[in-house]
Amino acid sequence: MRRLFPHPLTPSDIEDRTWDLAELAEAYAYPEAPVTPGAPGGQGVGGGGPRKAWLRANMVSSLDGAAHHDGRSQPLSSKADMRIFGTLRGLADAVVVGAETVRKEGYRPARAREAFAARRAALGQGPAPAIAVVSAGLDLDFSLPLFTAPLVPTLVLTGADAPADRVRAAREAGAEVVVAGEGRRVDAARVPGVLAERGLTRLLTEGGPRLLGQFVAAGALDELCLSLAPVTVSGTADRIVSGPPVAVPERFTLASVIEESGFLFTRYHQI
Ligand SMILES: NC(=O)c1ccc[n+]([C@@H]2O[C@H](COP(=O)([O-])OP(=O)(O)OC[C@H]3O[C@@H](n4cnc5c(N)ncnc54)[C@H](OP(=O)(O)O)[C@@H]3O)[C@@H](O)[C@H]2O)c1
Repeated sequence: MRRLFPHPLTPSDIEDRTWDLAELAEAYAYPEAPVTPGAPGGQGVGGGGPRKAWLRANMVSSLDGAAHHDGRSQPLSSKADMRIFGTLRGLADAVVVGAETVRKEGYRPARAREAFAARRAALGQGPAPAIAVVSAGLDLDFSLPLFTAPLVPTLVLTGADAPADRVRAAREAGAEVVVAGEGRRVDAARVPGVLAERGLTRLLTEGGPRLLGQFVAAGALDELCLSLAPVTVSGTADRIVSGPPVAVPERFTLASVIEESGFLFTRYHQI
């Protein structure tokens, strides 16, 4: 793994070596104490006012823009990509994910990992991030460990008119159902605020593309961690963001680039 940008700071940045998880955690740390701009005492990041959520996405794409191969992202991934994936989870308060990704990728509860334990304790975080599943129909298998045996209760984000029997099934399984929209659907713009109200401000979304499209359309995405895999797959797979086009292209600024085995691990912040 080599740091390509910002310009290598030390000889060890350009040396191709395995970064330990503490180094990765440092490289991907969330901004300290994000605060609501304009709030009393809030001077932007680190200003000391009320905490505001920071929503980061982590996605992998092929060179030709595919977000999956045969319905799974794993064929696009690599060992280093999974290390970064694990690190981003290790830093997050909550992982927000669309129900189709949960179904297709067979989501399990997040693990508590020794490598992040001290860091999490110092920041007052629980042992592992909560998984927050976004769903309108709640057509989810509530007998799975994701709902029945997580370290921290799994959240199900849905609309006010979600099917009552499915809401009941989610609650009986041990999930916390959170309403974040009128009608059946979640209003993506409300998600960061609804989670911040629960003290969950370091947010990570793992997609999928249709959910991410709504965060982009709502202007809710603060950061994109994009892994570019050195493969082409052709076909008709979605890009990492899918949905109606935004009126004006959203501009991001490059924060960092790490390379390993031809994979580029980029990080962009909203300007
Ligand atoms: N390349 C990557 O990094 C990456 C990351 C994640 C996923 N993927 C791939 O992407 C594919 C799945 O992604 P996807 O875009 O099809 O689906 P998705 O975004 O994961 O999930 C879509 C589902 O989420 C729920 N949902 C989305 N927006 C909602 C809203 N506003 N209100 C309520 N529910 C909402 C709905 O669930 P209900 O149907 O339950 O109502 C909807 O069917 C998989 O093949 C996966 O492998 C790739």
